Amino acid sequence: REQEDIYTIGFVQAMTTDNWRKEMNRAMKVEASMHPNLNLEIKDAHNDVERQIAQVEDFIEKRVDVLIVSPIQSVPITPVIEKAMNAGIPTIVIDRKIEGSNYTAYVGANNVEIGENAANYIISNSTPGKELKLIEITGLQASSPAYERSRGFRKVISKQENIEVVGTIAGDWEKTSVNKDLQSLLDSIEAPDFIFAHNDRMAMGAWEVARSENLTDSIQIIGVDGLFGPSGGIQLVKENILAATVLYPTGGAEAIKLATQLLAGDNIEKNNILNTVVIDKVNVDIMQNQFNKMNQQQNDIEQQQSVIKEQLATYNSQNYLLKIMVVL
Ligand code: FRU
Repeated sequence: REQEDIYTIGFVQAMTTDNWRKEMNRAMKVEASMHPNLNLEIKDAHNDVERQIAQVEDFIEKRVDVLIVSPIQSVPITPVIEKAMNAGIPTIVIDRKIEGSNYTAYVGANNVEIGENAANYIISNSTPGKELKLIEITGLQASSPAYERSRGFRKVISKQENIEVVGTIAGDWEKTSVNKDLQSLLDSIEAPDFIFAHNDRMAMGAWEVARSENLTDSIQIIGVDGLFGPSGGIQLVKENILAATVLYPTGGAEAIKLATQLLAGDNIEKNNILNTVVIDKVNVDIMQNQFNKMNQQQNDIEQQQSVIKEQLATYNSQNYLLKIMVVL
């Protein structure tokens, strides 16, 4: 291939400490590997806002063909994304949003709907009219999924006279941010009927606190993400640790697909909203089967690709030998 045919996609990931982000990166790599002319470069901002801005600057300077950013916080990243846009670099925002609409495309699920789904799950899984007490555990306040999940959740709950939110805990997406505050809240109030945590890691943290207080039988916990795999939300629902989780797809594959469409000069949708669904004991097995199949297919693809690579390498070396023989 000619050098001009190779395109570079620069992706700035917010952090890669958790499995949800690892899955996003993996999905991007699998999708990118289907296009031999794509070079995907991933930078990890390590949850550091300043570092994320500097990494976007790097990609602007490098003049990548498409930029993808998964913001840590919405406000601070906005100017440098505008800078990329002004420099003529198409920019895709994934998962957390930026301020305003100066980007090429956004991909992610509707987080307001995720909050609404969690609230509706609570309503439809309790006796109509029965007094209910809830606790909400939020994600990092400056990131858009946190305030959007809250908004959707509160909108639905506030219309129910029999349901009261008796406490809110400001988490930061990680389990450790929940422990102490939830412990002291549970010590000071009557146990709630439900806890809605903005992701499964914090939901797991809530369950551990509930267990230490012998409250796992009386409190039902709902999380978000619904990751597949050993410690993912789907498994937590299967083990009855969570009553439910609301699926939050990573969008990794979709972001790369959008990038390839942009590179091909196609028109793309500006807002690409991914589907979400509540996973509870009713559909958890179906979901798990579905993910198993998908995973199997991805593994097959990865295996086939490595076979092709090997064959190509053998072919190249045979070709080389042939050329030497011809010269001799
Ligand atoms: C992963 C994560 C997810 C959450 C998302 C929100 O880093 O914390 O658990 O759903 O980010 O942006």
